[in-house]
Amino acid sequence: MNRSRQATATREPVLHDLQTALKGSSRRQSVQSFVRILRDNFSSYSWVGVYLGRGDHLVLEAYAGGAETEHVSIPIGQGICGAAARTGETIVVPDVSQDPRYLMCFPSTRSEIVVPVTGRKGVLGEIDIDSDKLAAFSPQDKEFLEEAARLLATYLEKD
Ligand code: SME
Repeated sequence: MNRSRQATATREPVLHDLQTALKGSSRRQSVQSFVRILRDNFSSYSWVGVYLGRGDHLVLEAYAGGAETEHVSIPIGQGICGAAARTGETIVVPDVSQDPRYLMCFPSTRSEIVVPVTGRKGVLGEIDIDSDKLAAFSPQDKEFLEEAARLLATYLEKD
């Protein structure tokens, strides 16, 4: 089995668990389980958060990882998070120290991925993951997290 097929094989059951998590009793609880599953299954995902769009801001709905961030509300257009929300495209930052858009939450963060959650009418929110490892996010991570974001979009549009 080549590396990329192996990566797909290990990520597939996690998508199933994420789908199950989105059957929680409330939105907050479902999204909390969703971020927890991502954090617990991948050792390089140091902090996992979901932000949801409210007007011209992104507001932190739930997170899993050591610390609370000061960035609980981010204007669309600011930071990596705000840039991804504006363009609707995933942003992978292999070395946060080299990206002038980066808003620091944790001094230990070395790389970051932000995956927009896009519904029928545009960006509903995003999955934001910080890693303490440099260049932690592979093309397989990106593909997997975009699939996870599609599950979340379907769930959020049911409200
Ligand atoms: N680093 C993000 C801000 C959110 S924290 O990572 C939790 C950014 O540049 O938008």
